[in-house]
Amino acid sequence: MKKYFIVLAAMTVIAACNSNSGSSSDSSTAAAAPESSDATAAVPAANDISSNPDYQAGLKLVATNDCLTCHKVDEKVTGPAYRDVANKYENTDANVKMLAEKVIKGGSGNWGTVAMTPHPNVSQADAETMVKYILLLRNK
Ligand code: HEC
Repeated sequence: MKKYFIVLAAMTVIAACNSNSGSSSDSSTAAAAPESSDATAAVPAANDISSNPDYQAGLKLVATNDCLTCHKVDEKVTGPAYRDVANKYENTDANVKMLAEKVIKGGSGNWGTVAMTPHPNVSQADAETMVKYILLLRNK
């Protein structure tokens, strides 16, 4: 996938150089141009996680529960950094459910010997919303 974008980016550069030189003889380059601009337009939208409703709702719940006493986004505290959690687990329904259950029941052994305290007062739905927010932080 990454390679595909690099190729498209290279094609965009080549297309830009050709149009700057004023040469209109290469029709194959011109045909590829709309495809490249579509691909580049999709990148910022996919990276803009803060407008995602799961992100906003999950962040609010994480902030109003005790999560941030042990977790930070980019830094290991008592618990793993949320970004490390996001990079470890793919954002699938099965993983969201599994991690939400761990938030409620507590967990240990995946990040070291320190255990996460159980959160019996958190509903499964709220726990899933928080996990969805966490998994959106993936950057690898
Ligand atoms: C007392 C400290 C503490 C609090 C409070 C806490 N956590 Fe954790 N959390 C941990 C530790 C420690 C781990 C690593 C457990 C392990 O190694 O399996 C962890 C792991 C996790 C994981 C990854 C689980 C896995 O199996 O990889 C998620 C997701 C998570 N926490 C979310 C939350 C959320 C959401 C809250 C708030 C409702 C929260 N945590 C509150 C300490 C805490």
